[in-house]
Amino acid sequence: MTPNGGTNEPAGVEDVLRTEHISMSFGPVIALRSVNLHLRRGEVLGLVGDNGAGKSTLVKILTGLHRPDGGRIYLEGEEVKFRSVRDARQHGIETVFQNLALVGELSVYHNLFLNREYTRGGWFRFLGNRVMRAAARQFLDEIGVNIPSVDTPVAELSGGQRQAIAVARAVRQENIKVLLLDEPLAAMGAKETSLIIGLINSLSKKANVSIIVIDHNYTHLFEICDRINVIQHGQVTVDKSLSEIKLEELIEFMVQTFRGSGKTLVD
Ligand SMILES: Nc1ncnc2c1ncn2[C@@H]1O[C@H](COP(=O)(O)OP(=O)(O)O)[C@@H](O)[C@H]1O
Ligand SMILES: [Mg+2]
Repeated sequence: MTPNGGTNEPAGVEDVLRTEHISMSFGPVIALRSVNLHLRRGEVLGLVGDNGAGKSTLVKILTGLHRPDGGRIYLEGEEVKFRSVRDARQHGIETVFQNLALVGELSVYHNLFLNREYTRGGWFRFLGNRVMRAAARQFLDEIGVNIPSVDTPVAELSGGQRQAIAVARAVRQENIKVLLLDEPLAAMGAKETSLIIGLINSLSKKANVSIIVIDHNYTHLFEICDRINVIQHGQVTVDKSLSEIKLEELIEFMVQTFRGSGKTLVD
């Protein structure tokens, strides 16, 4: 049974991920009070909220870095408890961390195959460079990452290109179900931002990856998301699909909330 995590959506088999009353404190600081959210297959869900609202803590729980104090996580309807990042990854949850975990001295194609030996593609470690290079080229073409040469050391790429390679590596996992992106556009220029936005769109539309993305730029989120959740004080307070909310309304709501006017979007 897939529970309805308290949202006004009916419990659906199409939910790849669902959380129910996730809570977490750091000493006296309550980071998450009770997070109920759900992610449909192939959907891009945007999380917005002020600094300290609990967004990153939620992502860290979903990726196995933190154990929540309470609540449940369901993956394709089955309850899961992640013991580690590796455990979450084996369940098909991938995160691109801020440090990207790429090796600058190694080529793009080596990075794509790095440290992935324990997955179903375990035989890749026995592949020759020629096969890996061709596979990397084909994969990047498929998901629309335009890198002049897969032989280029990652250190020589732009920040946006490196981010794209990190994302590509995450989604190369054969059993990937959910990709988590915590501020993937932070510190990117306009050209790099459009590269990453294009990649996220292509992953959800062509590769049918389900994605949760955190960003402070609502304009960007409106270019990539199907639905937006607002997190305030460790809870999801607004859950709207893009057909239900306009960019201007979201901005106005966030500004009003910040001023503490008590205005609500939930009616
Ligand atoms: N490792 C930690 N130790 C102590 N407090 C933390 C830790 N991580 C997050 N917090 C606190 O939890 C709250 C939520 O933080 P975070 O999830 O990073 O928010 P957001 O990503 O929305 O800005 C904040 O008050 C933050 O200071
Ligand atoms: Mg954060």
